Amino acid sequence: MQQPRAVQGFLQGAKPLYKKATGGGKLAYYNDTAMRDHRAYRIKQYPLERGALEIQYIEEFFGEFDRKKTAVEIQARLGDRRHCILIAEAPLPSDPSQIVPVSFKVAHTIYGREIDPKLKDLVDRLQDTVVFDGRRVLYSWIGGTRNDWRGQGHFRALSEQQEIWALEQGFKEIVVKTKNKFYAMRGTLDHLHFQVIKFEKDPVDNQESKVYLSKKIGPDTLKTHLSQRKLVESAR
Ligand SMILES: CC(C)(COP(=O)(O)OP(=O)(O)OC[C@H]1O[C@@H](n2cnc3c(N)ncnc32)[C@H](O)[C@@H]1OP(=O)(O)O)[C@@H](O)C(=O)NCCC(=O)NCCS
Repeated sequence: MQQPRAVQGFLQGAKPLYKKATGGGKLAYYNDTAMRDHRAYRIKQYPLERGALEIQYIEEFFGEFDRKKTAVEIQARLGDRRHCILIAEAPLPSDPSQIVPVSFKVAHTIYGREIDPKLKDLVDRLQDTVVFDGRRVLYSWIGGTRNDWRGQGHFRALSEQQEIWALEQGFKEIVVKTKNKFYAMRGTLDHLHFQVIKFEKDPVDNQESKVYLSKKIGPDTLKTHLSQRKLVESAR
């Protein structure tokens, strides 16, 4: 079995470089074998009601977004469809006995024909690039990592866990939408091997242009995974 990259470096006696978020969301590189090789990322999978509340709570820490999702909105979107709510937790540096949510990822199934206006709009835009008929397509809806924990691999760990769940559930493709201006997300999706499938230029401001990406998944996807994870199912 392929070892996580950091473990490979560790086994070879090399000191791997890790990235650490510094002020202003920038990443610095630092030597810290504690991050990926000595412990597994701690990930919790949530049932709908509890998960929606947790997501509403964690979104409070994302000052950069004006439109935060409420628990009600999340429940309404996910209620009738296959979905996956994952949150990564980590110790608070100032008090390591406290474990806090640091990164999250929410995904749900999308169908070729949708009634909800937002989802209908999304799948209409994807009709020429994504095959919906006869196969399950997962939409990676919302996600992010709290500023102070960025660059530590939490989002990769969540994404890899999401892929495992998606494979178990029979999904063939994961689709995600972002904007030109979300450089960190674009860079991250690039590292996670998402392919750009569509670009919609905003007529006024190119930073607002929409970028659609997708990743086809299958058993081989697991071979590309780098993180070690400990999955806990949250109580209801
Ligand atoms: C994008 C975001 C989720 C990344 O989370 P993170 O926990 O820092 O990501 P990770 O540390 O797990 O990094 C995952 C991979 O992406 C890469 N990456 C992370 N941030 C990056 C950046 N700013 N630029 C380029 N690559 C980046 C990492 O190098 C890593 O690749 P590797 O595993 O091959 O080394 C986080 O920066 C964030 O929440 N940003 C704001 C959210 C956002 O922009 N949302 C837009 C709405 S779509």
